[in-house]
Amino acid sequence: MQKKWWKESVVYQIYPRSFLDSNGDGIGDLGGIIQKLDYLKLLGVDVVWLSPVYRSPNDDNGYDISDYQDIMPEFGTLADFTVLLKEMHRREIKLVMDLVVNHTSDEHPWFLASRQSKDNPFSDYYIWRPGVDGHAPNNWQSRFGGSAWQYEPLRDEYYLHLFSRKQADLNWENPKVRQAVYAMMHWWLKKGVDGFRMDVINMISKVPGLPDEPDGGSQQHGLYYMNGPRLLEFLGEMKREVLSHYDILTVGETPGVTTRHAIQITHEEKGFLNMVFQFEHMSLDSSPSGPDSLGERSSVAPWKLADLKTVMSRWEKDLEGQGWNSIYLNNHDQPRMVSRFGDDGQYRVESAKMLATFVHLLQGTPYIYQGEEIGMTNVAFDTIADYNDIETKNIYHKLVDEKGQDPQAVLKVIHAKSRDNARTPMQWSAGPQAGFTSGKPWLKVNPNYPRINVEQALADPNSIFYYYQKLIRLRKTVPAMVYGTYNLILAEHAQIYAFTRTLADEQLLVILNFSPEPAVFELPADVRYPGAGLLIANYPVDPGEDLRRFSLRPYEARVYR
Ligand code: NOJ
Repeated sequence: MQKKWWKESVVYQIYPRSFLDSNGDGIGDLGGIIQKLDYLKLLGVDVVWLSPVYRSPNDDNGYDISDYQDIMPEFGTLADFTVLLKEMHRREIKLVMDLVVNHTSDEHPWFLASRQSKDNPFSDYYIWRPGVDGHAPNNWQSRFGGSAWQYEPLRDEYYLHLFSRKQADLNWENPKVRQAVYAMMHWWLKKGVDGFRMDVINMISKVPGLPDEPDGGSQQHGLYYMNGPRLLEFLGEMKREVLSHYDILTVGETPGVTTRHAIQITHEEKGFLNMVFQFEHMSLDSSPSGPDSLGERSSVAPWKLADLKTVMSRWEKDLEGQGWNSIYLNNHDQPRMVSRFGDDGQYRVESAKMLATFVHLLQGTPYIYQGEEIGMTNVAFDTIADYNDIETKNIYHKLVDEKGQDPQAVLKVIHAKSRDNARTPMQWSAGPQAGFTSGKPWLKVNPNYPRINVEQALADPNSIFYYYQKLIRLRKTVPAMVYGTYNLILAEHAQIYAFTRTLADEQLLVILNFSPEPAVFELPADVRYPGAGLLIANYPVDPGEDLRRFSLRPYEARVYR
């Protein structure tokens, strides 16, 4: 397996709007990020991925871009960006930008021109189709609910938007669109950015003819726009024209990918991107079947450890020596991991550390989402008025206003699944507004901030923060954490997720109790640990303990070498 800096790195994701507000307008900004670079250095991360900071009308908080080569005024200016990049590089932290090129804002100059007529230089930049019998061209649903088509009277045609109506899909079949995207990528790379996280990049190629989805379009299969026929060709062109000219980190956000797709995309020799974000483990706690489903974030179901083992083990084994994965349990689109996979009550600290051990000990590049390192939790606002996320609001509107479902029941699902769980402001201190802003925050802070905040974490040597710091440091000195081969053990155990990582004569044994009950660990006969030393654990461990059989405490995590 090839050695690469981006395999050895730990990435920290910043959602700029919620990170730190430096000018009191209630919105996080670049100045705020600059102020906290020493904090990130203390944590030890190598790379920062910034969710979009480009100019945007904010229909989807920056994922609707109206100018790819300017900064959102609420966040600052290009000059501020230059300072940020310089200050990060001075601290040896790399900067990865979000690249959102499946769609632009409907306020992007390309779209403003495109909508005018069928014969202007930009008319073919987007996916326009005439209506069929006065209806949308096909039955595709937007990922945020409703038809994926919007009628434009000026052209007497519809344009495709897989996300909101204000996020028009670019027409990647048009070589001019591709060249414009590549030119923009070069522009940022020449400024010195260190890579791209590519938003829904496996949706850029649509099946010609745009066939109807099955089931009358009632479910979002994405059959005809995910992993489409020209995806690899487009990525190959992007690699030739742009990516291969730089030593950068590239990660594709790829909903609906299988390990087979992921290997094609990230293959060490023949692939195009360094790694992908896969979503199988994000689907383990929903029941999105049935007609009129609004997708995974509109239902909650208990998840099973056996399923988590199956999914993660398949990704680990299939990609072994072939491709590379990103390992994450939360991001700006997902609930907080400690609330979802751990316990955000009694065992918040223990379970947050256990889950961190899981993420950092699997093979793949680990991603930390802001606030994860202090164990931030989901939030439960009492009313939909307190939510901001377009997807959350659409789900509520559809289920309560259109289908007449019980508002309290719907809010309960939102409490578990809303993207705003991840977007409440970063909790820096126990001071007003959690130290996030001196003004009124754009989204309410989680009321648990007096207890859960960075100031507290930095003052407590046993905090989740310092546990992350230790995990990140270990990655630099224990090559098996990066390159070791994964093998699941105790596959049938109902509480324990245990595996080994093996690199030449070094072997790590990772033992994780995923439950709030004690669990008995028994060393399988074929695993041998003469002189095993404890690498990291989230409880005090008796050094003389007999490794062959011992009891794990609630959410206990241990790694032996
Ligand atoms: C995925 C992004 O992570 C999400 O936040 C966004 O809404 C969609 N792509 C559309 O850009």
